[in-house]
Amino acid sequence: MNTSILVTGGAGFIGSHATVVLQQAGYQVVILDNLCNSARSVLDRIERITGTPPTFIQGDIRDAQTLDGVFASHSISAVMHFAGLKAVGESTQVPLSYYDNNINGSVQLLSAMQRADVRTFIFSSSATVYGEPSILPIPEHHSRSATNPYGHTKLVVEDILENLYNSEPGWRIARLRYFNPVGAHPSGLIGEAPQGVPNNLMPYVAQVATGQREKLHVFGNDYDTPDGTGVRDYIHVMDLAEGHLAALRYCEAAQQDMLTVNLGTGEGYSVLDMVRAFEAASGRPVAYEITGRRAGDIASCWADTTFAEQKLGWKAGKGIKEMCEDAWRWEMRQSVKD
Ligand code: NAD
Ligand code: UFG
Repeated sequence: MNTSILVTGGAGFIGSHATVVLQQAGYQVVILDNLCNSARSVLDRIERITGTPPTFIQGDIRDAQTLDGVFASHSISAVMHFAGLKAVGESTQVPLSYYDNNINGSVQLLSAMQRADVRTFIFSSSATVYGEPSILPIPEHHSRSATNPYGHTKLVVEDILENLYNSEPGWRIARLRYFNPVGAHPSGLIGEAPQGVPNNLMPYVAQVATGQREKLHVFGNDYDTPDGTGVRDYIHVMDLAEGHLAALRYCEAAQQDMLTVNLGTGEGYSVLDMVRAFEAASGRPVAYEITGRRAGDIASCWADTTFAEQKLGWKAGKGIKEMCEDAWRWEMRQSVKD
């Protein structure tokens, strides 16, 4: 039997792009997703891009029976774990759901992997674990802290992985700390589809450009940054997906290892830089109003990418122009019925 990569949360934003990249690199993919934040139609879109439908199992990572069934019926060689909840604000309102999905879900998944003797694991961590940065660009050895339940779940799972790695031989683990993933597949067939009012900058900007929303609220212009607005390291989701492939290959080549890597571009752009880039890409105006700071926001955050380049031989190649053009193509195609 040919082996497959199990992609949890593979119907979601980042997991769907990783699935495309994996399939195009010759891997077979099994997606496990409960569709709590995604739609089944993504699977057809993936097939349209790659020519191959991923195997899909609708199920929950917290369900041990489902997990054992997945490992029993497919020959899984590695797991990419994207499934989880990710809204910072929501995590303060329903913390137990976040601890259950993100921490308990990861424990259930790792336990099922142990039972099935699968020990290669790629984890979606986040630059949120750096808290308020004391060094820019941020290196992986920067101190970690969490200011909200979502961030805390990432810290805890990172620690669980370290404990697991130290507890028994044979694990090959990559803890990937994403900076700000944006953009979409260049076909415009898959992308980010937040439900309700977008929490994140770029989906909100896109909806202002289409006229779905009146204006962007820029959360503060009194930060210690060149134009006073928050600066972030936006990374194209296709580059991010390629980073996962590089991490998988690294793990496959190792006897055992655990590495922790930033996935960012190493460049910081302000909110207003992104507004202007989106206006240029879309040819539409993006109205905005400066409002107060958002609680919990930091001024600036961008990655030190040296370690990723050295260790994985991976470097992000796409700039903000491409991020905005691809996001815009996706935004436009969403209104097209197919
Ligand atoms: P997403 O919500 O688009 O995708 C997550 C997928 O997981 C969804 O399809 C959802 O239906 C599924 N899912 C959630 N809980 C599940 C469960 N219990 N069982 C099975 N499936 C479940 O999110 P995304 O942006 O693709 O993020 C993927 C991962 O990357 C998450 O772990 C997130 O915390 C992490 N991350 C995202 C960002 C970002 O800005 N998008 C930044 C850093 C880290
Ligand atoms: N912003 C606005 N208006 C908005 C939304 C955002 O001005 O409507 C600003 C923010 O204040 C910030 C920047 O745009 O300066 C980016 O904000 P996002 O919400 O898009 O992203 P964050 O950097 O706050 O957080 C994101 C994810 C986190 C993740 C973090 C690092 O939401 O889960 O990136 O990877 F941890």
